[in-house]
Amino acid sequence: MKTYKIAVIGGDGTGPEVAREGVKVLRAAASKHGFKLEFTDYDFGGERFLKTGEVLPANAAEEMRRHDAIFLGAIGHPDVKPGILEKGILLRLRFELDQYINLRPVKLFPGVECPIKGKGPAEIDYVVVRENSGDAYTGTGGITMKDTPHEVAVQSSVYTRHQVDRCLRYAFELTRKRKKNNTLALCGKTNVLTYIYDLWERAFHEMGARDYPEIRRDYYHVDATCMWMIKNPEWFDVIVTGNMFGDIITDLGAITQGGMGIAAGGNINPKGVSMFEPIGGSAPKYTGKNVINPLAAICAGGMMLDTLGESAAAAAVEAAVTDVTATKLKSLAAGRMGYSTTEVGDLVAARVS
Ligand code: IPM
Ligand code: MG
Repeated sequence: MKTYKIAVIGGDGTGPEVAREGVKVLRAAASKHGFKLEFTDYDFGGERFLKTGEVLPANAAEEMRRHDAIFLGAIGHPDVKPGILEKGILLRLRFELDQYINLRPVKLFPGVECPIKGKGPAEIDYVVVRENSGDAYTGTGGITMKDTPHEVAVQSSVYTRHQVDRCLRYAFELTRKRKKNNTLALCGKTNVLTYIYDLWERAFHEMGARDYPEIRRDYYHVDATCMWMIKNPEWFDVIVTGNMFGDIITDLGAITQGGMGIAAGGNINPKGVSMFEPIGGSAPKYTGKNVINPLAAICAGGMMLDTLGESAAAAAVEAAVTDVTATKLKSLAAGRMGYSTTEVGDLVAARVS
């Protein structure tokens, strides 16, 4: 029987609670669809850092490479200064494992209230391919003359042609595979970021015209993208963009699909170890209350199965979530679902089984 080794990083706040429900559903999917999952827990996160002073063991990436995938709850602790854990755990793993794609579906499930008037599941169903290895996230820059009136801070957006090309390749291939309306939209800012997005735009049209002539290419500035994501989300099929814009527009996308309770993402290295996570944070105020919505983690688990090649199991998870949102949950919001965290996990797992 096919066996996959999965590293589980519950992380901080409500992370472990939602990861637990994700694992529950993954186990149900595995036994139903005839493969095995071996889970190993890792205690990376704020608590471990506060106890030991170490953010991530030096060999963490190496350790993660021994697995087929990583399943992550959430990173972010109220007693740790912002940036330390995010950079030291989440971003470090993304970079060291070269997970250069951040795949973020924006999909409104049936039964979920959409904050946009007149839009429903038919209109909100697209995928953002966020580049995940470059841009302002590379840490290129620094501060000089600190604490003087002349202090200078520089943080550069950095992209190489190689990074842009591999991300575009992934996005074109995904557009072809999705067969929605065969449209790939580049989200940029060619009117101001005339170096970075000039590179993206040239690479986009070159690759598209040469290798994907059947795929329609659209271009939107990032500010306009935000507007159209609200006004005409049905235009979108696949959106490809840089790391920073991708970070921003996917929070907007998440709220149009019902919020952080359901938004999932995958940090993907198509030839290596990928990491799947609910994209909301650690929601510390709900920790331990059994009220947080685990569907985002469950959907992240579904994406993980798809990436591992277990597409039937992945489809079953999505179908189960669809049934639960359509027929059971009162709301996606923490504490207002009509069910506890563990009960929502049970509902989905039962349908997968
Ligand atoms: C995300 C998050 C992270 C990011 C933070 C926590 C570093 O906002 O995954 O979208 O900016 O990528
Ligand atoms: Mg973000």
